Amino acid sequence: MERGNPHWVLARTPPGGWPVDDDFDWRDAPVPSPRPGQILTRTIYLSLDPYQWGRRRRGVEAPGEVCHGRTVAQVIDSRAAGWREGDYLFNTNGWQTFGLTGEGISTFGYMFPRKLDPAAAPISAAVGVLGMLGLTAYSGLYVQCDSKAGETVVVSAASGGVGQIVGQLAKLRHCRVIGVAGRAEKCDYVVRELGFDACVSHLAPDFPDQLRSACPDGIDVYFENVGGAVFEAVLPLLNPGARVTLCGLASQYGAAEGDIIEAWKSTGAATFARQGVRADQLFVGNFVESHQSRFLAEMAAWIKDGKVRYREDIWEGLGSAPRAFRAMLAGDTFGKTLVQVAPEATA
Ligand SMILES: NC(=O)c1ccc[n+]([C@@H]2O[C@H](COP(=O)([O-])OP(=O)(O)OC[C@H]3O[C@@H](n4cnc5c(N)ncnc54)[C@H](OP(=O)(O)O)[C@@H]3O)[C@@H](O)[C@H]2O)c1
Repeated sequence: MERGNPHWVLARTPPGGWPVDDDFDWRDAPVPSPRPGQILTRTIYLSLDPYQWGRRRRGVEAPGEVCHGRTVAQVIDSRAAGWREGDYLFNTNGWQTFGLTGEGISTFGYMFPRKLDPAAAPISAAVGVLGMLGLTAYSGLYVQCDSKAGETVVVSAASGGVGQIVGQLAKLRHCRVIGVAGRAEKCDYVVRELGFDACVSHLAPDFPDQLRSACPDGIDVYFENVGGAVFEAVLPLLNPGARVTLCGLASQYGAAEGDIIEAWKSTGAATFARQGVRADQLFVGNFVESHQSRFLAEMAAWIKDGKVRYREDIWEGLGSAPRAFRAMLAGDTFGKTLVQVAPEATA
């Protein structure tokens, strides 16, 4: 048994802007012991997600607390029925090497622990395509927007954790799919490897014109992951009756003050009213009970059949978490961003 439990805590409530070194502190602590009803798990993969920065900035996470994060972990000591040493699971250990799961331990609402079968799918997928990110794409595109064959679907952050899945799900429904991404290699990837019809870089000086050219029939469905200038370029292209899912606003999480959701709504209000656009905010937690089982079964089959593929950007070692987190928010990672905290075969 290891002696320590290295981890990252939030050093301060961030004063604003994007994360910097001073926001995080590297600490050590004894490995906790499970009480009856609990399991001790070793983190294997830590998921880095843009929403984590929103929590920290809003003060949901207090200074001194272990930074929150979804994880894939392995049981190393069990005092809970139904769990054995060596079992893999999805849980929320946060940015730490070991964590307790079970009675009296917060599951962060809908993020309840789930046993994983390593023979069925790569375990890292449980925090990506076969987890909340996949369900986010599925519920936003299929349930909220109900995309239909022949429609034009635009998705921003197209090569990221959610975006890469949205585009492929739209192709499964025979939509015309246009991605919006940063670097050219990201645009190439979603078109050549994932089968999107086109992808436009938001870094191009004439981005709004390029987007217009890529959408000659306008936009029927917009899956919003970033907000800001991309949203402003999308608005004039929305067709009457278009549907918009407000999934996230990654370009705005470091923004100054104010309510970024309200600002987004007011930017879109006139267009939404004129065009009869239905815009729904997405909270994936609302779809877990109603859609997760079906989603997991369908997505597992699509992955097995090669109909959905995914890319991960895996950083080595828990020490890299703040750097990887900053890189993800800045668009410097490529695919779903993860940290590998321990090797997979640790039983
Ligand atoms: N509603 C929900 O329940 C829910 C659940 C999960 C995720 N989300 C949201 O879904 C979105 C995507 O999450 P993810 O985990 O898949 O993250 P991600 O796409 O892997 O990473 C965020 C990406 O946003 C893009 N971006 C950053 N700044 C930008 C800017 N100024 N303009 C345009 N694009 C910019 C970058 O990609 P490029 O290099 O391509 O610019 C960056 O890689 C986030 O907004 C997240 O908060 C919502």
